[in-house]
Amino acid sequence: MTNPEEVLFPRRKERFEDRRKEASQRKLADEFFDQRTLLAISALITQGQFEAIDYPIMTGKEGGVFRASGAGGFRAVKVYRIGNTIFRNLPAYALEELRREASGANHARMIYGWTRREHTVLRRLAAAGVPCPEPYGYLRNVLVMQFIGTAEGFPAPRLHDATIPDPDRLYNDLLTLIRTMVFQAKLVHGDLSPYNVLYHEGRPILIDVAQAVPIEHPQARALLVRDITHFARYLQKLGVDTSPERLQAAVDAVPVAG
Ligand SMILES: Nc1ncnc2c1ncn2[C@@H]1O[C@H](COP(=O)(O)OP(=O)(O)O)[C@@H](O)[C@H]1O
Ligand SMILES: [Mg+2]
Repeated sequence: MTNPEEVLFPRRKERFEDRRKEASQRKLADEFFDQRTLLAISALITQGQFEAIDYPIMTGKEGGVFRASGAGGFRAVKVYRIGNTIFRNLPAYALEELRREASGANHARMIYGWTRREHTVLRRLAAAGVPCPEPYGYLRNVLVMQFIGTAEGFPAPRLHDATIPDPDRLYNDLLTLIRTMVFQAKLVHGDLSPYNVLYHEGRPILIDVAQAVPIEHPQARALLVRDITHFARYLQKLGVDTSPERLQAAVDAVPVAG
């Protein structure tokens, strides 16, 4: 078998002459790309999903999102870490469902279930017309999706980091996004915040959706109220004349027929 690191970083030799960079890259490789993850990535490459992982866009406790490239252009690859950290911050309701889905508490299988779940939710959101990355596939703990960013390959900023020239338009877009999610996709995100929405070509794009729940879920209402409160506060800081109660009322408003 070819060396998986060569598959992952084919341009490493040219691009990382500097030894220090090489060392930090290697640390990243060791942290994220255990053997099982490398094999999953190799298989996704064989499937033609992408040709190489370029660099990490963002890494955190639970995993990392990488830019990948191939004949079809750029893609985003989310790798969930197969460590014990991922479920520490997970709400009890989500953990419980995941256990049920993975039929047991096998940790790796739960991570795989979580990855599949993110793929399923993205597909459901995209089908309903919610702006989100289109999912392209997954294998074990690795999810491949549309890269949100410029044609040159620069990833879009999160709302939290973006400069918003027209907050009122963003208000309308976010209201439509939440309403489409609730009334068309029939899902509640559950972790909405300016950190989980990208700002691309002046429009919000929803990401990080694995913890979403169907609107019939017993916790759905409480989660929706919390999501809306986060957005209302964020919009208020941008100078939009709204409040959690008023945004809530706008989301709840019955759509006019016709
Ligand atoms: N499809 C994508 N295109 C471009 N960047 C992305 C994409 N998905 C995620 N990112 C970047 O990776 C970061 C982490 O992704 P997220 O799904 O929120 O993972 P986490 O579970 O670690 O919070 C995001 O804040 C964003 O900067
Ligand atoms: Mg996130």
